[in-house]
Amino acid sequence: MSKANLFYAQSGGVTAVINASACGVIETARKYPERIGTVFAGRNGIIGALSEELIDTGLESAETIAALRHTPAGAFGSCRYKLKSYRENTREYDRLLEVFQAHDIRYFLYNGGGDSQDTANKIAQLSIEQGFPITCIGVPKTVDNDLPVTDNCPGFGSVAKYVAVSIREAGLDVASMCESSTRVFVMEVMGRHAGWIAGAAGLASEAAGDPPHVILFPEVIFDRDRFLDKVRGCVEEHGYCAIVVSEGVKGPDGKFLSEAGGADAFGHTQLGGVAPLIAELVKRELGYKYHWAVADYLQRAARHIASATDVEQAYAVGKAAVEFAMAGKNAVMPAIVRGSGPEYSWSIGEAPLADVANVEKKMPGGYISEDGFNITEAARRYFAPLIRGEDYPPYREGMPQYARLQRTLVKKKLADWAG
Ligand code: F6P
Repeated sequence: MSKANLFYAQSGGVTAVINASACGVIETARKYPERIGTVFAGRNGIIGALSEELIDTGLESAETIAALRHTPAGAFGSCRYKLKSYRENTREYDRLLEVFQAHDIRYFLYNGGGDSQDTANKIAQLSIEQGFPITCIGVPKTVDNDLPVTDNCPGFGSVAKYVAVSIREAGLDVASMCESSTRVFVMEVMGRHAGWIAGAAGLASEAAGDPPHVILFPEVIFDRDRFLDKVRGCVEEHGYCAIVVSEGVKGPDGKFLSEAGGADAFGHTQLGGVAPLIAELVKRELGYKYHWAVADYLQRAARHIASATDVEQAYAVGKAAVEFAMAGKNAVMPAIVRGSGPEYSWSIGEAPLADVANVEKKMPGGYISEDGFNITEAARRYFAPLIRGEDYPPYREGMPQYARLQRTLVKKKLADWAG
């Protein structure tokens, strides 16, 4: 097989470990010098391919690439950009193939969630139809943990650890203050339409009465009166109440309790800001003093408290994606497969992109307690191993040290892309 270049891009909301996947891709690709020429990274995801802004990762030292493993966020820039269907926007696809041809790119690795796997799948189909075969491999990523087929998604374990640690610590704080001051603490977490992140916060509680006392899931329609009863009962019993609310919680009318306004390129409503609403409701109806926090980007950027399991898995899917390409596979994504033994184990399997694209996996009913406000033992068994282990970044002068890349762009060969 002849030698060709590889294009890698990051897509969608970034995570604490997406760069560990990039590290897995680049380090592995460097082990195939006879088959893979340069690894180009798209500047800001697929937008970089359209605008021919290709970062030459070959110019980055082995040390810098290795440091990606402990660097949060998207080192090459990410994007929210949806490719329409070929019929709706032929020009875009033609442009992509033109850029790939001009730079001799025959491997396309796209690191993202369900929407991004859809993009990778579309390009795979098209390249076959157009007779310019490009090997397309998806690399899973999403803090939302909502991709099907894979047992869990890289990025999730670290966000899960951050929110569980945070609610345990903040819970201790409120417990200290509740006698004469704050009674209620509300922490809002991400996850869009799925309650995986909110559910994982439940790991903070090890004994009856431990925070969080109430979890509000997108999968459970918000019932105002039942919620207030629960909070009142909790304060009466424990003196305080720690609440975790998912940004995607909906009311009986099917609308999100909070929409920050606007939508992204995929039509996803921007969410955020439900914590102050919930806190205000508690104050108005029950009179308790409150504090609230919206974990927002802090949760998905928190590399300092990443899960070691998550870091390993993120690296492994990046590595496997290159190995899949080298093995001649196409239109597939490495998936994490959980072993069936009593001790947690995992391996890398394979998922067709067509099965992964555009599907949102929600929390199963069996993971949410009868009353809808907590997680079950089955959920704990699922979540617990995913947050295990610490993988601290190196610190200097008290601050974590993260990779700084040159991000040198390759010389353009084509006319500018007008979009
Ligand atoms: O899809 C991951 C995610 O972090 C969601 O949990 C969140 O709703 C969304 O991204 C935020 O996206 P953005 O950073 O584009 O506003």
